[in-house]
Amino acid sequence: MASILIIDDDTYIRRTFEDLFVPLGHEVIPMMTAEDGLKYLDKDEPDLIFLDLKLPGMNGLELLEVLKSRKNTIPVVVITSHANIDTSVQAMKLGAADYIRKPFNIDELVLIVEKIVKERQKDAQLAYFQQQKDAILGFGDIIGNSQPMQEVYRFIQQVASTPKTTVLIRGETGTGKELVARAIHYKSERGNKPFIEINCSAFQETLLEAELFGYEAGAFTNAIQRKKGLLELADGGSFFLDEIGDMAVSLQAKILKVLEKQTFRRVGGTKEIRVDTRIISASSRDIDQCIRDGSFREDLYYRLNVASILLPPLRERKEDVLLLASHFLKIYNAEFKKNIRSISDDLKNQLLRHNWPGNVRELKNIIERAVLFEQSDVLTGKSINLWDREGSRPATIDHIEIDEKGVSLYEIEKSLIAQALEKTNYNQTKAAKLLGLTRETLKYRIKKHRINPRIKNG
Ligand SMILES: Nc1ncnc2c1ncn2[C@@H]1O[C@H](COP(=O)(O)OP(=O)(O)OP(=O)(O)O)[C@@H](O)[C@H]1O
Ligand SMILES: [Mg+2]
Repeated sequence: MASILIIDDDTYIRRTFEDLFVPLGHEVIPMMTAEDGLKYLDKDEPDLIFLDLKLPGMNGLELLEVLKSRKNTIPVVVITSHANIDTSVQAMKLGAADYIRKPFNIDELVLIVEKIVKERQKDAQLAYFQQQKDAILGFGDIIGNSQPMQEVYRFIQQVASTPKTTVLIRGETGTGKELVARAIHYKSERGNKPFIEINCSAFQETLLEAELFGYEAGAFTNAIQRKKGLLELADGGSFFLDEIGDMAVSLQAKILKVLEKQTFRRVGGTKEIRVDTRIISASSRDIDQCIRDGSFREDLYYRLNVASILLPPLRERKEDVLLLASHFLKIYNAEFKKNIRSISDDLKNQLLRHNWPGNVRELKNIIERAVLFEQSDVLTGKSINLWDREGSRPATIDHIEIDEKGVSLYEIEKSLIAQALEKTNYNQTKAAKLLGLTRETLKYRIKKHRINPRIKNG
């Protein structure tokens, strides 16, 4: 059912529209002049406009011009009295969707209306679908249309609506665990409260405890002042415990207590502090195995595992590879102020053949490097040595040639540092060695480039 505005000074035509379309379930709004039509359009938005070109006062072409200047999106079908091709062409140029000649063939008229109504519906559905998708994605940056990803979106949607449920996200490195954790938080009613994260593998046990729970003055040698723990800061929001599989068993007991009682004590403190936070944890380790070898408490596992998801590795959803690649191409085009338009067929094939042990993060890094080094406007990936990666042949950089556009040494440095950190699992001592730098120099450069250092073990 559509609403059709017909602007024609000919009473017979307006009648015809009413007689024809009202019985078909449509609404017909008859107007005699362009001025009246405009007045109507000021307050209402029909689905479709039929417009006679020859009108008293403002004529049809003039009205089209006004509509065009108003950025009208309603389809307009013009009615021409004679077989006047010139004016029809002019009308199309002014944005008319179609034209029909008088005297008209009723079947043709019905067909035009049906076609346009269907298109409008499709557009509306697409817009709706897009909106839904954006809503599911939380902030719209999780990419992937594959079946396994659809399940991930459903999971996010579902747990977002139960803001007290504890969530466990498992998956190989680089599969998007952190991204999913954030999406759950921002989509939930806790979304306007803090999302606090801590990487359990990044701290020694006592430090991690102090970070999580805070401490009272004098609790240990360096505790000069009382400090609030991250858990307190997450009150009302979500707390993301990353790499929970790496948490020391003694700390696991304390986290279990937080989950059971929503209370904890600062280090050296006696007061029970109450928090309302949703715990989202993630692990790339096989927690079942950790339970078997005694490094993970089974009771905590059951507590954490109320709602859990295993994120699919990229090699099991290859249909997402090129989608992700284009997405990252866009991002790095913007970041490096490049204008690479497409990915070469050869590179596409290679991307599809690769097994992606580092999952989406690996793909992202590869596209970043490829964009950085690309000299043409098609991404060839010639310079990235991707296919030797598994054989771990050292990267060579003899192929970097400086052409008249130049290269950014700054960006190359940044990329190499990021690579070294990735390779060494963020061990700065090892990464410094790989780069032939001292640890202090590396630290300085990490700061300079604002690379996330994610310090492992201090
Ligand atoms: N579906 C996706 N769409 C877009 N970007 C993604 C997707 N999945 C992962 N990424 C990107 O890949 C990188 C790795 O993702 P993330 O840090 O969430 O992985 P992870 O599973 O937490 O990895 P790790 O176990 O190594 O910590 C991030 O830069 C993230 O933005
Ligand atoms: Mg992570």
